[in-house]
Amino acid sequence: MSSLWSPDLFDIDEYVPGEQPKDKKYIKLNTNENPYPPSERVLEAIIAAAGDGLRLYPDPNCSELTEAAALACGVKPEQVFMGNGSDEVLAMCFRAFFTGRGVLRMPDISYSFYPVYAKLYGINCDIVALSDDLSIPVEKFFNSQAGVVIANPNAPTGIALPAAEIGRIAENNPGCVVLCDEAYVDFGAESAVPLISKYNNLLIVRTLSKSASLAGLRIGWAIGDEKLIKGLNKVKNSINSYTLDSLAQAGAAAAFKDSSYISACCAKVAQTREHTSERLKKLGFELTDSKSNFVFARHSTASAETLFSALRQNGVLVRYFKTPRISDRLRISVGTEEDMDILIAVLERILESL
Ligand SMILES: Cc1ncc(COP(=O)(O)O)c(C=O)c1O
Repeated sequence: MSSLWSPDLFDIDEYVPGEQPKDKKYIKLNTNENPYPPSERVLEAIIAAAGDGLRLYPDPNCSELTEAAALACGVKPEQVFMGNGSDEVLAMCFRAFFTGRGVLRMPDISYSFYPVYAKLYGINCDIVALSDDLSIPVEKFFNSQAGVVIANPNAPTGIALPAAEIGRIAENNPGCVVLCDEAYVDFGAESAVPLISKYNNLLIVRTLSKSASLAGLRIGWAIGDEKLIKGLNKVKNSINSYTLDSLAQAGAAAAFKDSSYISACCAKVAQTREHTSERLKKLGFELTDSKSNFVFARHSTASAETLFSALRQNGVLVRYFKTPRISDRLRISVGTEEDMDILIAVLERILESL
């Protein structure tokens, strides 16, 4: 810590990303990455863009990419804002719509980056407890002061609301923005994107990290009313005009144009999720109804912390959150069928030995 820091920095508890281990090769089920490779079209486009053009600054408006994203999502390019991963887009949303407007509402169990952004921008939060079954109590998100941030499907529970419920939250917050993070929507939930034409306060954030196997390329985007997109551009152009490099823009545009490959990978992940869930239940786990690329599981007798450590020792990484209400659960990303065979075999051994 340094006395030269801005005073408010001392109080910020930074977000801690899932481990990317270097010590040995693990079955990596801890950061919700997609186990399948990205589309070959993406790699071809990146190689084609990796030439003399790198002398030049990239397109600050990501024009070709924005058009490809808009076409893939069924909206107009003016309704799309591209960013360097959805984390960056979310941070810019907090700055554009929630700063200086009062108290922001969010669930107690959700993506743990939200309270960090709030703290960074000096936004006070009204934390609403999820229901006992870990679902989002929709009506408790009505009539907020500064706005609402919600993930759908929620993370780490994986539980999804129907799009109409997101619409109800937007309808009942007419004076502020409802930010809906759809990082995992492609694995089986219903997107609220079609509702942006009905609710000019509804902003959806998406990512290519999970569904398109492109966590390393850092591509996120927001979809909403043109006026909201203008607000986001104002924030971006006050920090960094070139958030996406030329290679990322080329690769991501190719991904949007190869949507059938992405849907096929997501369908495989969803199928493996269902199969794995059945197998975990037979081992004594209780699971939420996840519509994401992870499951959220609690064992009837073994503690989550014990299982987390034992799995790690046996070469399988999962995510454990030592936080109230969910410290008895593990979040396990869905890998290939072969990854999950290993997970189940290792778990069987561990449970027998306890
Ligand atoms: C709910 C949620 N939103 C957003 C993100 C960030 O995704 P990215 O910055 O890779 O687009 C994550 C990553 O794990 C997430 O779980």
